[in-house]
Amino acid sequence: MPMHKNKNIVLVGFMGVGKGTIARALIKKNKKIGLDTDDLIESMENRKIKAIFEEDGENYFRKLEQKMAKWLEKSVKNCVISTGGGFYKVTNLSKIGTVVYLKSSFEGILKRLKEHENAEVKLAKRPLLSDLEKAKKLFDEREKAYESKADIIIDVEDKKIKVIINELTKILKN
Ligand code: S3P
Repeated sequence: MPMHKNKNIVLVGFMGVGKGTIARALIKKNKKIGLDTDDLIESMENRKIKAIFEEDGENYFRKLEQKMAKWLEKSVKNCVISTGGGFYKVTNLSKIGTVVYLKSSFEGILKRLKEHENAEVKLAKRPLLSDLEKAKKLFDEREKAYESKADIIIDVEDKKIKVIINELTKILKN
């Protein structure tokens, strides 16, 4: 899979799948700079994602994601970009970089979140994870879309970070 001309790696996938953790490992290994779309949006708005959802609603947040996507396409090169779980919907995703979908089952994601030492914090900061039945529905709706938008699909379930990074690095080299 040849790298995108911008040389960015864009990690997409469902909430809690490990986009941030995998991004940090990739950054370390490849000596790249890392950016996270949720973090960028929080600094742009000077408030937390949770507050944006509560005060202005999800549609407003999606507009911010689209704005961020345009900026990333125009201005960012050679970075590892981790994204929010709904970022894959932006219209210019393929123009930002090589899109990597981190794939896991819903059960695998819940297991990962529950085992995390900060489990409560991780759940509390994600408004769309507060109702697990709804979250599962969202997961089912999105699964195929993530796959169709990805240049590369990596199955991350029950795998050590090191194995995931090696797998991805191999694919990117070919
Ligand atoms: C969302 C995922 C969140 C965050 C927002 C909406 C989603 O990011 O962008 O709460 O629509 O799936 P994470 O995937 O980092 O939790």
